[in-house]
Amino acid sequence: MDNLDAYHWVTTALDTLERAHWKRSLKQVTSRSGAVVEIGAQNVLNFASNDYLGLASDPRLVQAATRAMQDYGVGATGSQLLSGHRALHRKLEIGLARWKRTEEALVFSSGYGACLGTVTALVGSRDVIFQDQYNHSCLQQGAKLSQAQVYSYKHNDIQHLKELLKQYRSQYRRCLIATETLFSMDGDCCPLAEILDLAEQYNSMVLVDEAHANGVFGHNGMGWVQASNCQGRPLVQVGNLSKALGSLGGYVAGSKVLIEYLRHRAPTWIYSTGLSIPDTAAAAMAVAIVQGEPQRQQQLWQNVHHLREGLTQAGLPLLSPVPSPIVCLPLRSAAVAQELEPALLQAGVFAAVVRPPTVPTSRLRLSVMCTHTPAHIQELVGILAEFRECYGHG
Ligand SMILES: Cc1ncc(COP(=O)(O)O)c(C=O)c1O
Repeated sequence: MDNLDAYHWVTTALDTLERAHWKRSLKQVTSRSGAVVEIGAQNVLNFASNDYLGLASDPRLVQAATRAMQDYGVGATGSQLLSGHRALHRKLEIGLARWKRTEEALVFSSGYGACLGTVTALVGSRDVIFQDQYNHSCLQQGAKLSQAQVYSYKHNDIQHLKELLKQYRSQYRRCLIATETLFSMDGDCCPLAEILDLAEQYNSMVLVDEAHANGVFGHNGMGWVQASNCQGRPLVQVGNLSKALGSLGGYVAGSKVLIEYLRHRAPTWIYSTGLSIPDTAAAAMAVAIVQGEPQRQQQLWQNVHHLREGLTQAGLPLLSPVPSPIVCLPLRSAAVAQELEPALLQAGVFAAVVRPPTVPTSRLRLSVMCTHTPAHIQELVGILAEFRECYGHG
């Protein structure tokens, strides 16, 4: 038998994706990140980036990363538990804990790893997880890997969560409720105070992923936990350094005992090389800037309102009634989505078209940055309006 036969299914699987209009392609950005970027020798409006506060190209981050590399090299050279823990990591952890007003923080080499490793450390086969059905892949995969029993509750549906807790909680040892705070593909936020009330009632831990909420919500961009007045309540706060903070990496912020436990039990921290030197230095600089320059967050919100008003005035539908820098427009089908993306690019707009299986229904996902100008937003709305036949629920 031809040995290649064992891999033939890969071609078949790709063909299936193609037929379902789920196949994706990469776009190569050839300039610095910013409100306008270059793709294929064309300058396009960038509404596809998570760089909400425009820090990814900030000269102070670049300088901090460059200086740190000159002093300490590039790679951390080992897991933090072995040889990879540097003074820079500790500085970043202290900065994150101060920003989040928690006792401690732990830095991971990605946000994905921070979520995955924390979930698997907190629960095991005798335990149960209740998760929002729209949670990001890192939480869902962490839940699977943990071997805990998993129940998904309807998106942001506190009543459904309550019913599931009532029915199943008592059958298990430990319980974890896991949710994103600002949902990355929908742009709405979880009802955190209510979730924490239920957690108290049902003796449950709560893990929140603040990936998209950091820098966006709360005083000094502290996130949704602060914005919902839930600071100080028992919580496992996970987030990343790669979106509003413009660098790379992830963290967990919480009590001293929680962090000490994770240092001994989170596999993605123990068995993975420490965050690289330049990323660590850039992230530490970003944590300081976010707190010192609230005008970035204010400008971001002005842009969000400006965009939502513009889209509404143009008669275009919005997926979520809740304002946030993630603004989604429903698309009629995956086929429409597949055609829209290159058409928009050609018209000068770089925006993410998200399709199943990432999301249940196709959508155009615009992400707003504080560095967008009113002219950028106006131009975007004008271009989107030219494709109005694409929007709507399929
Ligand atoms: C909600 C959410 N959590 C976690 C992650 C993973 O973070 P990172 O890209 O830093 O690994 C992402 C990134 O896409 C995300 O959207």
